Amino acid sequence: MKAKHILNLIIFALIVTLFASCEYDFIKPEPAPPPPDPTDTIFFSLEVVPIFAANSCTNCHKPGGFSQLDLTAANAYNSLTSLGMVNTADPAASKIYTYPNPTTGTHGNKYANESEVQTILQWITQGAKNN
Ligand code: HEC
Repeated sequence: MKAKHILNLIIFALIVTLFASCEYDFIKPEPAPPPPDPTDTIFFSLEVVPIFAANSCTNCHKPGGFSQLDLTAANAYNSLTSLGMVNTADPAASKIYTYPNPTTGTHGNKYANESEVQTILQWITQGAKNN
């Protein structure tokens, strides 16, 4: 093989490498988790309570916290029901659904995600049981 051919080959390889390195790898945003299946039973202790810790609600909503409402695992159910935060007659009007709602909420920037508020709503629709 002639030296010129080898040189051409190297140039060709360089050009290919150059174009290949121009490819973009788009970072896709995490898809929003799907809302719960409407036929699933929502368990308060297993599915609703963890939402309050996952979104740091319990930083403020705890015994002796900024608000009377206590969302810690041990007290959340009694606190939510005794303070009238759940409305089984009109579930979508429940404060525990409207406050952390990412689209309609008015609670500063302290929101849960759409899937989480749907979980809360479904739990209330199913009778807000201490399950
Ligand atoms: C930085 C502190 C803080 C965080 C974090 C926080 N809250 Fe609150 N929240 C408050 C305070 C203070 C009030 C009482 C004032 C008010 O009604 O806005 C309140 C009120 C509420 C109320 C209405 C209580 C009532 O008596 O009417 C609900 C429901 C509520 N928060 C839910 C949540 C949920 C769910 C989260 C998590 C997604 C959360 N909060 C995160 C401070 C916080």
